[in-house]
Amino acid sequence: MKPMRILMVCLGNICRSPTAEAVLRSHAERSAPDLRLQVDSAGTADYHVGEPPDPRSLAAAARRGYDLSGLRARQVRLQDFDDFDLILAMDRAVLATLQRSAPANRRSRLKLLLEFAPQAGLLEVPDPYYEGEATFEQVLDLVEAGARGLLVAIRSARGAVLGD
Ligand code: 4NP
Repeated sequence: MKPMRILMVCLGNICRSPTAEAVLRSHAERSAPDLRLQVDSAGTADYHVGEPPDPRSLAAAARRGYDLSGLRARQVRLQDFDDFDLILAMDRAVLATLQRSAPANRRSRLKLLLEFAPQAGLLEVPDPYYEGEATFEQVLDLVEAGARGLLVAIRSARGAVLGD
C-alpha cells in the first residue's frame, strides 16, 4: 500500500491547520502506523509564511501533548493538488479558495475536515485568531474529532475516501 498524503489547510497556517497536522500525525502514529500517512499543512494566505504557529495554539496543543514547535507556515502551492491525495479545509471559505485554485481534475481531493466528524455537529473549525482561549480549546476538540473520524474512514473505505 503506498503512503497516503494528507494536507490540512486554513487561512494563515499558524492556528488551525498546524494543529490539525500535529493531531492527525500523532493519532496516526499511535493508532494506525500501518496506514503510513504523510501529513502536512498550509495556508491559503501568505500573511505568516515562515512563521512558527501562534503561541496560543502552541500552548493549547502542548497541554494535550502535541508538539507544534517545529512547524513553519507556508502557503498552498499548485503542486500540492498533485502531491496530496486528500486536502482538508478547516472552513468553507478556505474550501472555496481551494476549489477556485485547483485544476478541475483534482477538485475531488478537496473536502472539509469535519465531514469526517458528523457527530461534532459543526462543519467548520472556527477561526480562533481574534478569539480567546476557549476557541483554541474548541479548535483542538474539533480537530481531534476530525482526525479520529478520518482514520476510521480511511481504514473502512480507503478507496472511497480517496475518491478512486
Ligand atoms: P488560521 O488563523 O487560519 O487558523 O491560521 C488565522 C491566522 C492569521 C490570520 C487569520 C486567521 N490573519 O488574519 O493574520
